[in-house]
Amino acid sequence: MAETETLFNPFEPGFTADPYPAYRLLREDDPVQEHPLGFWFLSDHEDVVALLRAGHSVDARLTTVEGAAQEHFAQLERDGLDVINMSMLDRDPPDHTRLRSLVSKVFTPRSIAALEPEITGLVDASLDRIAAAGQADLVEELAFPLPFAVISNMLGMPPTDHVRIRRLSGKLVRSLEPVFDPDVLKEISDAGAELTAITRELIEWKRADPADDLLSALIAAEDRGDRLNDDELVAQVILLYVAGHETTVNLIANGTIALLRHPDQLTLLRDRPELAGNAVEEFLRYDSPVQQTRRITLKPHVAHGREIPAGAFVIACLASANRDEKFWGPDADTLRIDRENARQHVAFSVGPHHCLGAALARLEGRVAFERLVQRFPDLAFAGEVEWNGRINLRGPATLPIKV
Ligand code: HEM
Repeated sequence: MAETETLFNPFEPGFTADPYPAYRLLREDDPVQEHPLGFWFLSDHEDVVALLRAGHSVDARLTTVEGAAQEHFAQLERDGLDVINMSMLDRDPPDHTRLRSLVSKVFTPRSIAALEPEITGLVDASLDRIAAAGQADLVEELAFPLPFAVISNMLGMPPTDHVRIRRLSGKLVRSLEPVFDPDVLKEISDAGAELTAITRELIEWKRADPADDLLSALIAAEDRGDRLNDDELVAQVILLYVAGHETTVNLIANGTIALLRHPDQLTLLRDRPELAGNAVEEFLRYDSPVQQTRRITLKPHVAHGREIPAGAFVIACLASANRDEKFWGPDADTLRIDRENARQHVAFSVGPHHCLGAALARLEGRVAFERLVQRFPDLAFAGEVEWNGRINLRGPATLPIKV
């Protein structure tokens, strides 16, 4: 342990509302922190990037550290739910390479670009509802329903299942948070079981009656004679569904909060709508929708001259890297939607697990901000922001606005 009082403690009051002062202290005092709970915490841009590019494992079962991860996997195994961990996000090569390659065959840049008219229609429908009401919770009316509808439609999910899937997916993503309570672990596992059962049924239904959608394409996807088996298919569909909306909701909501807190930037975006694409990159940097990811070291890893042993559970803090003044300069904590190198953020990670849905998230974000800002010149807060309490997939639970 380094001699420091600065310990990563996400349970401190106020942390989820604004974790950035704590990240700054960590970067200054102990950027390669060996935490008393057994994990390591990296907060510098340079160290985060080097770790993610170093070819370590994403398979949390390989860690030698006892703790919540072990409990989570033990619970899944007890419940016969290992399938949940068969998504590409939790696999190393060669599995990762073939899973990613099969999914990439159908989740192509061209298929995503073709969604712009549908996305525009969905955004406008949301804005119509907000305009009619005069005020609204932006999470409930736009930030959540947009990515949720887009990924549901892409996959070809029947609308009748949407409410149930939303509830289950909200529980399942808690597996990405630090959870120590056995009751919560059980709840996550139960949600995984129910989602798995729904997805299996859906795959059978699509197999019998294929349509022009992503799920039918995934069932048929073939790469040099290779296909996804049933369990792999279930795991990739759940990953796409959950990753498809539980993250972009924070991009839209956190980005809106950032704009409302920086009226000069809101005015700049209104005056120069062509900046919307770059503004989305800056929102991803300034207040990252996924704050951290993790790796298990396969061999000793040196960061800042400190050796992290093999088998360590290492948290790479993407959100802290995105505010590191050593990389971004003295205005790292300032929102600047015309920042030239904003796209160098690590909000989508780097290396082999770089977000497969980045192009879709960028498109949804750009269209949403272009239209929101132009449509409502009097856009303003209408009450207190309430945070969702998550440390990793951090964003507001409610965002009251008036137009
Ligand atoms: C992976 C962030 C939206 C699908 C990741 C990772 C991050 C991330 C940080 C990599 C984690 C790691 O390296 O360990 C985000 C953010 C989003 C977003 C910030 C929105 C603003 C989406 C969307 C989809 C998606 C819309 C799909 C519809 C995936 C998939 C992976 C992934 C499939 C796994 C890639 C792999 O393991 O090779 N995302 N994501 N994401 N994301 Fe996203």
